[in-house]
Amino acid sequence: MAAGVLLCVAVNLVCLSVCGNLVSGERSFSIDYKNNRFLKDGKPFQFISGSIHYSRVPQYYWKDRLMKMYMTGLNAVQVYVPWNFHETVQGVHNFTGDRDLEHFLDLANQTGLLVILRPGPYICAEWEMGGLPAWLLQKPNIVLRSADADYVQAVSNWLAVLLPKMKPWLYINGGNIITVQVENEYGSYFACDYNYMRHLRTLFRFLLGEDTVLFTTDGNTDKEMTCGSLEGLYATIDFGTDNNLTEAFKRQRRFEPRGPLVNSEFYTGWLDHWGDPHAVVNAQKVSRVLAEMLTMGANVNMYMFEGGTNFGYWNGADHDTRFRSVVTSYDYDAPLSEAGDPTEKLLAIRDVIKQFRDIPSGPMPPATPKFAYGFVTLKKVGNISDLLKTLSPLGPVESQYPLTFEEMKQYYGYVLYRTTLPRDLSEPTPLISPLNGVHDRAYVSVNGVFQGLLERDTVLVMNLTGQQGDTVDILVENMGRVNFGSKINDYKGLLSDLILGKDVLTNWKIYPLDIDGAIAGGWPHSNSQKSPPAPWKEPSLGPVFYRGTLQPNGLAWDTFLKLNEWTKGQVWINGVNLGRYWPARGPQQTLYVPGPLLSTTQPNNITVLELEGAPAHLRVLFMDRPQLNVTAGKS
Ligand SMILES: *[C@@H]1O[C@H](CO)[C@@H](O)[C@H](O)[C@H]1NC(C)=O
Ligand SMILES: *[C@@H]1O[C@H](CO)[C@@H](O)[C@H](O)[C@H]1NC(C)=O
Ligand SMILES: *[C@@H]1O[C@H](CO)[C@@H](O)[C@H](O)[C@H]1NC(C)=O
Ligand SMILES: *[C@@H]1O[C@H](CO)[C@@H](O)[C@H](O)[C@H]1NC(C)=O
Ligand SMILES: *[C@@H]1O[C@H](CO)[C@@H](O)[C@H](O)[C@H]1NC(C)=O
Ligand SMILES: *[C@@H]1O[C@H](CO)[C@@H](O)[C@H](O)[C@H]1NC(C)=O
Ligand SMILES: *[C@@H]1O[C@H](CO)[C@@H](O)[C@H](O)[C@H]1NC(C)=O
Repeated sequence: MAAGVLLCVAVNLVCLSVCGNLVSGERSFSIDYKNNRFLKDGKPFQFISGSIHYSRVPQYYWKDRLMKMYMTGLNAVQVYVPWNFHETVQGVHNFTGDRDLEHFLDLANQTGLLVILRPGPYICAEWEMGGLPAWLLQKPNIVLRSADADYVQAVSNWLAVLLPKMKPWLYINGGNIITVQVENEYGSYFACDYNYMRHLRTLFRFLLGEDTVLFTTDGNTDKEMTCGSLEGLYATIDFGTDNNLTEAFKRQRRFEPRGPLVNSEFYTGWLDHWGDPHAVVNAQKVSRVLAEMLTMGANVNMYMFEGGTNFGYWNGADHDTRFRSVVTSYDYDAPLSEAGDPTEKLLAIRDVIKQFRDIPSGPMPPATPKFAYGFVTLKKVGNISDLLKTLSPLGPVESQYPLTFEEMKQYYGYVLYRTTLPRDLSEPTPLISPLNGVHDRAYVSVNGVFQGLLERDTVLVMNLTGQQGDTVDILVENMGRVNFGSKINDYKGLLSDLILGKDVLTNWKIYPLDIDGAIAGGWPHSNSQKSPPAPWKEPSLGPVFYRGTLQPNGLAWDTFLKLNEWTKGQVWINGVNLGRYWPARGPQQTLYVPGPLLSTTQPNNITVLELEGAPAHLRVLFMDRPQLNVTAGKS
């Protein structure tokens, strides 16, 4: 058996290299313009696909999610590649662990799923800066997503790393990638720069070969389709349940008079922003419109099929009338829940697909088991000022005027800005962000006493009191860079001077904070013997670290962490950054904790950075179900 398999492989290899053209008829993927469809290996082909982002699902669950997609009757998955996830530091690439894209492609292939690859370089995706690395912003006036020479150089360098890795995975080369998208919804960007799109087309062709089906995707308006499409890239459209699909596909037809109908993003749900009501899309509507599209013979990708989680600092943000940050959960009300569980929506979609093709026999894999581990009481570790030696080992950068995160080369998380009061303030004196330059939230203390906060677009003034020479500590949080529209050059930190009364605050000490590095190194649990928790006094206000342990009970099941009555902050378990919590705004109330993060034998280390104020009980709760739909002041 084994020898036979080897022989087959060898023969195929010989054939591929020696008689390439002869066998290409056997393995091909192309557009049949005459009959308005795709052809796979010369036969008519229609994809029913679902989006899943490997960067939002822990690697150990990839296979589970893909299998559930396969069992729903999908024949393809659509996958974004977030550039900033792979090249966090310029020139340093990471394709291992949760970033192992080729392993993901391999699992999809083993599962029997084709792949629609969306390598960007911009992806939107409600992901930090739409997938662009923040180090691009080191050139102050860079015009992203245009023919700007520095931008194009960085893009070319990245694609020269990524696309050669993808080439062997193209369907025509023996892999499972059937089509590749160029850019993403480019027509909704202001630049409308055809030179940029032409450059990308040349690069993709050069790096992937002439025979790959390249396409674009744009929103359902003429302007978007006009600026986003380009000769030689097959133009597709995206729309959800509220659009008239006849009209939408007519629009695609105006840009592609012949060829298959394709909805590249059919919205099964929608995203949430902090403070907004939880978004849902009705399952009956989704199934009805899906059935209508399939009846027309259209190719459909459902966005999302499995949404997953914005772990760490990876959430994006929108900026239309004001800055609105995307929540940690990317559940999306998708057919598979954030934790990868089949929903009623999935079963309804499977019933629709059944009417059009045979779906794999056998049961849908069940939901993964969940466990309510119950309450854990945390202890105070200390505030940021107490911990600067640990969190900022290299110490501060001194600067007369504040520097941005980008100038500090710390792109994500939190940075501490420290100065002193220039004079006595016996009366409450306004601290003003006159140019709205706090990106995105600043937590302000004077001599260790929390005085309040400033928030981008909404809170531009607060009062301070104190004495000349008192220490002013301003912890600034990056809440995720804008991922859509013309404001994606979203610098973070203090972007402009703060004014206190009649003084401009100057002479800053700016501390980069490597909180994730410290926690990955075992802090604060490893040195808990050396430094016992600070004695309990009054409930602390302002940014404070807490820690606790969830005792192992032999189980490592998925669970949901609720920080009831906590205000806003960030949580880590066993060194992994689960993301932001903000129950005081909602709608998200629980954070998804993937079971495999938990140890069955060691104490599980919980670290919380609470930014505003913890409740007196200092408890957190591990529940067996999520709660994503409670918005403060809204129902
Ligand atoms: C690369 O990414 C993996 C998965 O997230 C991570 O475990 C690893 O530490 C990263 N490698 C480097 C060198 O940063
Ligand atoms: C994909 O899977 C098929 C079997 O389903 C296998 O023949 C093929 O070699 C796989 N391709 C790659 C690139 O692993
Ligand atoms: C969609 O638009 C077409 C015209 O293009 C119209 O005939 C049809 O009634 C519309 N459908 C719905 C559900 O509004
Ligand atoms: C931090 O806590 C220490 C006591 O542990 C206190 O002296 C100091 O004022 C606090 N600083 C801030 C900024 O809260
Ligand atoms: C600041 O203090 C003044 C004087 O007490 C008060 O009138 C004003 O409302 C305060 N402003 C804010 C933003 O708290
Ligand atoms: C939690 O921290 C303690 C102290 O550093 C360590 O011994 C233990 O292994 C950690 N637990 C896990 C699951 O990593
Ligand atoms: C919130 O979601 C739960 C199920 O996840 C549901 O039972 C409840 O009715 C929802 N509440 C609101 C206000 O939508």
